[in-house]
Amino acid sequence: MLIYMHSILRLTNRKSRPFLPSICGPGANLSIERTSSAALHVKQLGETQPHHRNLSMAKETHTWIQASEVIPMFPTMVWKISLTPELRDAIDAKAIAALEGLRRDLPVLDPGQGWQSEQTLHQREEFQDLISCVTKFAKSILRFLRVGPDAFEITGCCATVLANGAIHKVHSHPNNFLSGVYYVRIQSGSDTINFHDPRSQTRIIRPPAVELTAKNTDQVVVRVTNGTLLMFPSYLEHSVDTNMGEEERISISFNIMFTSFTEQLSKPLW
Ligand SMILES: [Fe+2]
Repeated sequence: MLIYMHSILRLTNRKSRPFLPSICGPGANLSIERTSSAALHVKQLGETQPHHRNLSMAKETHTWIQASEVIPMFPTMVWKISLTPELRDAIDAKAIAALEGLRRDLPVLDPGQGWQSEQTLHQREEFQDLISCVTKFAKSILRFLRVGPDAFEITGCCATVLANGAIHKVHSHPNNFLSGVYYVRIQSGSDTINFHDPRSQTRIIRPPAVELTAKNTDQVVVRVTNGTLLMFPSYLEHSVDTNMGEEERISISFNIMFTSFTEQLSKPLW
């Protein structure tokens, strides 16, 4: 489920709102505040207007055009899967128990506060079922993209817990190729993630949208549920709105990079 947003990003003072410092990258000291429209409409991926619509309109009104074409390029993709209930329950039980152990001696989060675990959860036994899913998912994405090399590794994995009222500011995951999130415990009011237009220059001129579509939006809200596993390019900025639920929002993030980057990929291409 996708929701297209037309937002105005407004820099806010660090002290003005609670937010969670990001371990995931130098996301700067920004928090995001949406000042325009609420969710306007929902479209499924691939439900955008066919490319030939403009062509047919041109035929009707512009007899001077023999043919026309809209050429989409440089797509930005977020991959989303849902684990089976059995697998999800097994992963979540181990993850929650492990996180409770890590937080045993820590104070209970106050409203607006967040907590992030160590970044090496992928090395713990309790998370190996999840890591197995992540690995298979990443392999399928590399095949989808038709890129290699085949060897990659998870370079970091951490849990994020957001109490009621907490947000996760806009950030990306530098120095990795793919990143992702697995959702352990979310509820209504904390079940979305925002993705932001990676084309930075489109922010310079921002005419009002007559209709919000995939072609003019600058923010896409993806609704997730317990057991959802998302993956996306590490450069793609994302954020999490204020947790409006009463319960803690628990997710597990991870990064993936090619194992042989230095040996095989970093040589000059010129
Ligand atoms: Fe992230």
